[in-house]
Amino acid sequence: MQIPDISKIFDFVSKTEYDALRAKAEYCNALLHTGEGAGSDFLGWVSLPSSISAEFLADIKATAAKLRAKAEVVIVIGIGGSYLGAKAVLDAMGDPFVEVRGGRADKNPTIVFAGHTISEDYMAGPMEAVKGRSVATIVISKSGTTTEPAIAFRIVKGFIESNYADAVDRIVAITDEKRGALKSVADAAGYKSYVIPDNVGGRYSVLTPVGLLPLAVAGVDVDALVAGAQRMEERCGAGVPFAENPAAVYAAARSVLYSKGYKVEILVAYEPYLQYFAEWWKQLYGESEGKEGKGIFPASVIFSTDLHSMGQYIQEGERTLFETVISVRKSRRAITIPKTADDGDGLNFLAGKHFSEVNRMAELGTMLAHVDGGVPNMRIEIPTIDEGSLGELIYFFEKACGISGYLLGVNPFDQPGVEAYKKNMFALLEKPGYEAATAEIKKRLG
Ligand code: PA5
Repeated sequence: MQIPDISKIFDFVSKTEYDALRAKAEYCNALLHTGEGAGSDFLGWVSLPSSISAEFLADIKATAAKLRAKAEVVIVIGIGGSYLGAKAVLDAMGDPFVEVRGGRADKNPTIVFAGHTISEDYMAGPMEAVKGRSVATIVISKSGTTTEPAIAFRIVKGFIESNYADAVDRIVAITDEKRGALKSVADAAGYKSYVIPDNVGGRYSVLTPVGLLPLAVAGVDVDALVAGAQRMEERCGAGVPFAENPAAVYAAARSVLYSKGYKVEILVAYEPYLQYFAEWWKQLYGESEGKEGKGIFPASVIFSTDLHSMGQYIQEGERTLFETVISVRKSRRAITIPKTADDGDGLNFLAGKHFSEVNRMAELGTMLAHVDGGVPNMRIEIPTIDEGSLGELIYFFEKACGISGYLLGVNPFDQPGVEAYKKNMFALLEKPGYEAATAEIKKRLG
């Protein structure tokens, strides 16, 4: 991954305004290493990649191999930071056309995600689909008390226990070391379990067993993913000069844009394979920055697809948007545009060109059109979509998020606002202990 290209923000902010943030961004980066900033109990992710040992990865791969040997379908249960990282990498590396091929040619189990929604239709779906298939599960919850994964786990655990004599070997729990119901359930039942380090919050946990185990089960090269993150950890280190630190450059650029009224950041990719990567990014930035009445709203689009739905707004709507484009230099497959005898659609001038060349011109043309329309633009180029690049991007965005939170003056590692909906939901569900809240909320709803 290259240093983000921020040249196209200078039609909107001055170089002097940007330069004024350099020292502060460097300082905020250093705070993540010294632990003198807000939320310093949650900085375990900063040096996580370099602390991952070969033994730890071997253990993850051994557990993955056991699940792979047992199950055709592995249900990964988790929500928020306990599923989005694995889903992001899996979708980027996966094959969406497995069913069209008539099933898997490889030996990888199918990964199904659950516990990220309370939709009854969704939950019933995989449970109907897995009947007669060999199933295992990985249940992930740092707190061990989150309702969505907990109730999904009740269903999946019941299914596994009533169908397999070796149920205990088909369930792996990933949770906090001490707290929470999941840890006690896992210990009592004798499930293999992994610990999410205390000092790593959910949305920064993809490089712990939370992301690594499901990905290893799915056949993703976790060694390369971790190696990519390790490279980026070094490039974003405390002593790295500002201009050479990709995370500091990106954080300073988005901070200066925010100060000039650009309050919505759209993460853009021209590869549909990165759609869930953008979802992971949205959670990371939304939950880390959106507090105390502040924060850039993170949105995402896939172009050119969404140029035919959101393109109009981005080109001419309210001028509070800026774009960050993940630009992929080389596609993984090759397909060229054929020539036709009659040139009926008038597109023979494209004959022989690769789709990726047309996609690249769409990208460059859109960038200039949006800049002309009043949308500042940044570009982050990666060589191709592979585990190494994804590992680099993951750590880059995490580090930039920590710096951004500090530049904004918030604690990027808590999420107090998430509790509000839970409180109301429990009151409405008449959870014991919520009697007063139940009476009050029912009055409000009439
Ligand atoms: O980033 C976070 O901390 C959250 O998004 C959590 O990952 C999410 O709420 C799930 O929490 P838990 O893993 O405790 O079930």
